[in-house]
Amino acid sequence: MNWKAIGIFDSGVGGLTVLKEIVRVLPQEDTIYLGDTARVPYGTKSPETVIRYSHQIAHYLQSQDIKLLVVACNTASAVALGSLSAELPVPVVGVIEPGAKAAVAATRTGKVGVIGTAGTIGSSAYTKAIKRINPDIEVVTRACPLFVPLAEEGWVDNEVARLTARIYLGDLREQGVDTLVLGCTHYPILKKVIAEVMGPGVTLVDSAEETTLTVAGILGEQDLLRPKGELGNHHYYVTDVPAGFIRVGNRFLGGNLGDVYQVDLEKDLQSGGSLEEAY
Ligand code: DGL
Repeated sequence: MNWKAIGIFDSGVGGLTVLKEIVRVLPQEDTIYLGDTARVPYGTKSPETVIRYSHQIAHYLQSQDIKLLVVACNTASAVALGSLSAELPVPVVGVIEPGAKAAVAATRTGKVGVIGTAGTIGSSAYTKAIKRINPDIEVVTRACPLFVPLAEEGWVDNEVARLTARIYLGDLREQGVDTLVLGCTHYPILKKVIAEVMGPGVTLVDSAEETTLTVAGILGEQDLLRPKGELGNHHYYVTDVPAGFIRVGNRFLGGNLGDVYQVDLEKDLQSGGSLEEAY
């Protein structure tokens, strides 16, 4: 069981920010990443659709014999984590609880901001998770949909990014939050501009870092970690042709994206996983 891979999925390329952190902290682990590039974005879709997509992907990764599943996508974590955990035989880790936990630990004033996609913010998943830990914390939320295309375009440190951040984050700043949860896979890519706009008194919480600690904790507790000193292999699957994923993914990971395979989730699940094409 220890030698099995960690499965990670996202609506597209953004979840590589989570994968990067997992590989940094647990370099001995194999990973299998699936980006649903044919159907991205999830952030604008209904919960029903995101739940259906998430279950298809989870089944695919389960068929690859994983030991733990990470739902790197905040939108999918917000709406599908409960049903995925109930259905899968392996531990399922989302990004919401770890992010909420870190935000509660970080805030001094008890006023926390959360930014994410329309789907994540609409679900109130972060607000509920934070209030479950400490009901006295005030949570101010804001959907920032344009941050996703900006991160993918590489416009992360220019006037457009700065202006967008000022418009989206102005209210949160004025309301005096002292902690801001980056509740979307893409937002860590824009950390510099977000930090600039929010000012030095505001702590930015990166769900990727906290999620990795949760993954390491669960694997440790269940005696599922590979021995230290091993070097894991990393496999990447996407549902559209991989060219765009490779281009943006290399930027997100700082180069070194290995082979990327295209899969057809519906056909692949029926045929037992033999329809991949390597690029
Ligand atoms: N991965 C999504 C998230 O973290 C952002 C991109 C999308 O909308 O699909 O919510």
